[in-house]
Amino acid sequence: MSDAAAWDARYGDGGFAFGEAPNRGLEALLPRLRPGMRALALGDGEGRNGVWLAERGLAVTSVDWSAAGMAKAAALAARRGVALRTVTADLTQWDAPVGAFDLIAWVYVHLPPDDRAVVAAKAVRALARGGLLFLEGFTPAQEGRRSGGPRDPALLWTGSLARQHFAGLELLECLEGTVLLDEGPKHQGHAEVVRALFRAP
Ligand SMILES: C[S@@+](CC[C@H](N)C(=O)[O-])C[C@H]1O[C@@H](n2cnc3c(N)ncnc32)[C@H](O)[C@@H]1O
Repeated sequence: MSDAAAWDARYGDGGFAFGEAPNRGLEALLPRLRPGMRALALGDGEGRNGVWLAERGLAVTSVDWSAAGMAKAAALAARRGVALRTVTADLTQWDAPVGAFDLIAWVYVHLPPDDRAVVAAKAVRALARGGLLFLEGFTPAQEGRRSGGPRDPALLWTGSLARQHFAGLELLECLEGTVLLDEGPKHQGHAEVVRALFRAP
């Protein structure tokens, strides 16, 4: 799936494709989170990660090009009684504010190489001083597994690609290997991922 309409179709049913619970790697950031931090959830889909951050007291902006996803994110936030700013936009076109976020969550957003470079540069600029960037994505070792991810290998992440795109940031943590996913119907089972945390100087 590579365009907004395809994601709208995927999000069109009543369920949550990746569940309503946050990504486990993001959840592990809890000790680093403080109420009032400004967070950006990139490609937030149906909002599971943005809403979880909002529940921790963060001021969250969710961006995704799927209007159906953003509508479900807004509804999930309302149901949980938290504020969530949703923006329906293509990340490559979105005018990201500069120096505006203390945390950026980039969870399972797999972009074509040129777009990935554009969005990564924007993300780096959007971080405030000392801001954190959390990344989790599938790696090429995921091929053959049925636990999710894009078919096109050009869209996949590696640790070295992450270090390259976020070279201006300090690498705090990086795991590249096998995890057990339990994230809605679309991410089930063992998976090959990179999970990394960077910090802006
Ligand atoms: C695998 S889903 C992950 C959703 C969410 N991050 C999560 O972990 O539940 C990938 C998301 O990236 C979004 N996406 C992909 N390319 C995008 C782009 N160029 N601009 C905005 N959103 C995009 C899709 O619409 C989709 O919601």
